[in-house]
Parts: sequence; structure tokens; C-alpha cells
Amino acid sequence: MKLDHPRYTERFGAISLHGVQRVYELDSGFSNGRPTSETIRSIGNEEISEIEKKMAIVIPIKGERLKLLEGVLSGIPHDCLTIIVSNSPRQPVDRYKLEKEALEQFNRFVGKNALILHQKDPGLSDALKEVGYNSIFGPDDIVRNGKAEGMITGMLLAKMAGKDYVGFIDADNYVPGAVNEYVKIFASGLAMSNSPYTMVRISWIYKPKVSESGLYFSKWGRVSEITNQYLNSLVSYYTGFETEVMRTGNSGEHCMSMKLAELLTYSSGFSVEPYEIVNVLEEFGGILPTENQEAMDKGIEISQVETRNPHFHEEKGDDHIKEMFFGSLGCIYHSKICPPRLREKIVEELRNRTMLEEGQEIDTLKKISPFNKIDMRQFANILHERASSLIHFV
Ligand code: GDP
Ligand code: CO
Repeated sequence: MKLDHPRYTERFGAISLHGVQRVYELDSGFSNGRPTSETIRSIGNEEISEIEKKMAIVIPIKGERLKLLEGVLSGIPHDCLTIIVSNSPRQPVDRYKLEKEALEQFNRFVGKNALILHQKDPGLSDALKEVGYNSIFGPDDIVRNGKAEGMITGMLLAKMAGKDYVGFIDADNYVPGAVNEYVKIFASGLAMSNSPYTMVRISWIYKPKVSESGLYFSKWGRVSEITNQYLNSLVSYYTGFETEVMRTGNSGEHCMSMKLAELLTYSSGFSVEPYEIVNVLEEFGGILPTENQEAMDKGIEISQVETRNPHFHEEKGDDHIKEMFFGSLGCIYHSKICPPRLREKIVEELRNRTMLEEGQEIDTLKKISPFNKIDMRQFANILHERASSLIHFV
């Protein structure tokens, strides 16, 4: 893959937040020894392949159409470990069973390393309880509903499998070729990073909408523009310079080194993606004290890469948009580093959109603790023993 070196970078404490980089060539061939230019970096197929071997791709899924899942599976490079974490209903139709069968059939042909697990499996909750990881539970002591909860479960499986990198791809993507590009971008971004604590986020070139006059290639999703605006304001408040650096606040498609992933605190449900950025700022921005001096010394890198493929996914309804707004702005609003003036603006924003009434408070979001302290052997033992929905295909 050939892509830009970052053209500019916001530095915030120990964090380097790179501006969006473009892809020039999806496949730049094997490296032929020619030096790459000052501005463009070529990451050869061998280098990408080496990283893919160390990467797990987590697919969180809740009741998506099976045809879409099958397409997504076909787009993931063979050498990555595929992990499906499902929160699909099991009654009246056992959607999880259908997903499992689809994966099994796919695997019969491709012979790929893949795992599938149901988020509500009591065996999973038992294993988490035994190792003292309680922040992920609902009042019934079972893993809560929520996309973040699914992603964290996936990260634990990736760590259990000894992977160094973990990426996320939504299950509702219509274009397998785009899925393939996301993973190539993940690997290329990781190859370009100078720190072991690193995150690569996908910026979609277009998010097409179907309108009466045909396809409209819009640049922004309904929520992401606003989320990015507030994340940028948060950075600007501290640096004193307005910035537009942040463009991927809501990007479900992103990856991290396990070293970074296990240090973060996560926010429940759909606030997970923007809060990753907020938490990196909280943890490594130099504003609040941190326990992670080693990461501070090495530095945290966040890159954002614009795809060549447009992003086609399922259009969810207005309730989903509202939930996304609340999650995205709520996690900024409730952050310890959110300045009072920004808080006021967020309240105003939600009121103008008639999402918040006079006197109504913005709900706090549940947090999930870092998983770096979990005893993985114990977790793995109990999980294998008790989680009946866990299947490992090889
Ligand atoms: P959007 O694309 O960000 O607007 O949100 P989606 O509704 O498409 O959700 C993103 C992905 O998360 C999809 O693959 C969903 O099926 C999946 N998802 C949503 N809620 C949950 C959940 O509670 N658990 C799991 N495991 N996945 C979920
Ligand atoms: Co979606």
C-alpha cells in the first residue's frame, strides 16, 4: 500500500495526533528496494503480511443480515484471526446459531483461524467474575448489552490468542473489498508508527446515501461531523489553537496495538469510539496524573487514514442517531478534562436538536476498566471450560 506520511500532527502531552493521510495505491507490490520518497511511504506486501499474522479482527454483531456478515468474513485477509462477538437474539429464532453456521460453512472452504462467542454466554460472565473484571456486568452479573462490551470481549479473546494487534470491523458492511482495504490500512498504519502504543482509525472517503435522484456521495455521517467538532474543541481548548485534526471520532473501523488497547478505560455502548480519543487525552495528555509512565515515555500515536472505497452500511433509524449523539457528546461532557464552557455548548447543541429538555441532565455513561491486570490464563481456563457458545475453527 502507498500512503502519505502525515502532513501535520497535533501534539498533546505524550500524544501525537496525526492529520488524515491519503492512500495512493491499494497494493504497491512487493518492495523492490527502491527508496520511498520523502512524502509517500510504500508498505510492501511482505511487511503487511507479517503484521496481519499478529492481528485479530473483531466483528461485533447484533442481529445483522447474514449476507452482510458473510461478505465481511470474505474481506478479512486470511492470516488475521477472525473473532465474532455476537449479541444477537437467540429467541424465537436463534440468530447466533445461524451466524455460527455461516462461519462454519465459510471456514470449511477457507480453513481460517476463527472464533465465535456470544456476549451473553454465562460461561463468559463466570470467567470474567473469577478474574475480578466486574465493570462490564449489568445488574444480573452477565455482560451488559452494548457494542463496547462486545468489543472488549473480542479484545480479551485476541489477547488470549496472543495477538499483538486488534482491529474492529462492523458486521453491517455491504462491500467486502472495503473490509479488505480497512485491514490493509490497519497494517500499513501500524507499520508506519514509531511507538508500540498506537491506534489507526479509518476515515471514509464517502458515506453514500440513497436519494430520489440516485446515489449521493456525502462526506460525513449525521453524527460524526458534530462529534469531531466537539473533540476538536476539546483539544483546542488546551492548546489555544483551533484545530480540525480529528476526523474519525465515530469510526467503528479502527485498530490498536494490544499494548495500548489494554491500558484504556472504555465507555459503554456506542460512545466507545469517541471515548477512546477522550480517554487517550485524559490518560496521556499530561493534564491528569497517569500510572502508565512507560507509555508516556514512548509516546502514543494516533493516525487517521482515508480510504479509497466508499463506506456502504445498513442505515439505522433515528433512534439510533439519537443514541449516537448522546453517547458521543455525553462522553465528552462527562470527561474530567472537559472545560465548563464546552460543557455549556454541548448542552446547547442537544437542546437545539430538541434531544434534551430544559432542566434535563445528560446521562452519565458506564465505564469499563482497563483489562491489563486480568489473569489471562485463569480467564482462558474457565472460559474454555464453561462457555458453551465459544467455538474455535481452524
Ligand atoms: P453505526 O454503524 O456506528 O451507526 O452502528 P451499527 O448499528 O451499525 O453498529 C455497529 C456494529 O456493532 C454492527 O456490526 C452491530 O451489529 C454491532 N452491535 C451493535 N450493538 C451491539 C452489541 O450490543 N453487541 C455486539 N457484540 N455488537 C453490537
Ligand atoms: Co453500521
